[in-house]
Amino acid sequence: MKKIDIKDLKGNAVSLFDDKWCLITAGVGENYNTMTASWGAMGELWNKDVCFCFIRPQRYTYEFTEKNELFTLSFFGEEYRKALSFCGTKSGRDFDKAKETGLTPMEIDGSVSFEESEIVIVLRKVAYQDINPEGFLDKAIDGNCYPQKDYHRMYIGEVVSCYVK
Ligand SMILES: Cc1cc2nc3c(=O)[nH]c(=O)nc-3n(C[C@H](O)[C@H](O)[C@H](O)COP(=O)(O)O)c2cc1C
Repeated sequence: MKKIDIKDLKGNAVSLFDDKWCLITAGVGENYNTMTASWGAMGELWNKDVCFCFIRPQRYTYEFTEKNELFTLSFFGEEYRKALSFCGTKSGRDFDKAKETGLTPMEIDGSVSFEESEIVIVLRKVAYQDINPEGFLDKAIDGNCYPQKDYHRMYIGEVVSCYVK
C-alpha cells in the first residue's frame, strides 16, 4: 500500500462511511477484533486530522478499542461486501472472522488491518465520549436508534497514517 496524506484521500467521507462501510479493528498481533461500521466521520478537531467512530458497549470490538491506544478503519472494494456483512452481523466472540471471510490480517503501524483493504486509516485514540440522550434535540433519535438504550461510545482518533492501494 502507498502512504498518503489523508488530505489527499479521494472520495467523499459521507459516502465512504454510509455507502462503502468500513471495518473498525483494534488489537495487536493475533489478539485483535474487527467489526463493520457505517456511522462515522472524518474532519478536523483540536488542530488534528481526526476520524470519529461510534461503538456500542456490547460489541466484542469495544473491549479491544478500550484496551488499545490504536485502532484502524479499513475500507474495501464492493467485492468484499459479503465479508463486511458477516463482520457486521456476527461477533468475534463466536467466530474467527478472518477465517470465515477469507480476509487476511496484517500488522500496520502497531495495529491491525487486512491485506484486501483499499484504504487504511490508522488512528490513535485521543478522546471518547458516551452518547448522552439528554443532548438529543431531535427526540426521534433515541427511539429510532436506541430502543435498547445501548448508547454508543464515540471515539475520536487522531490520524497516525493513511494508506491506499
Ligand atoms: C452496515 C453495518 C454498519 C454497522 N455500524 C455499526 C456502528 O457504527 N457501530 C456499532 O456499534 N455497530 C455497528 N454495526 C454492528 C456491528 O458491526 C455488529 O454488531 C458486529 O457483529 C459486532 O461484532 P463484534 O461483537 O465482533 O464486535 C454495524 C453493522 C452493519 C452490518
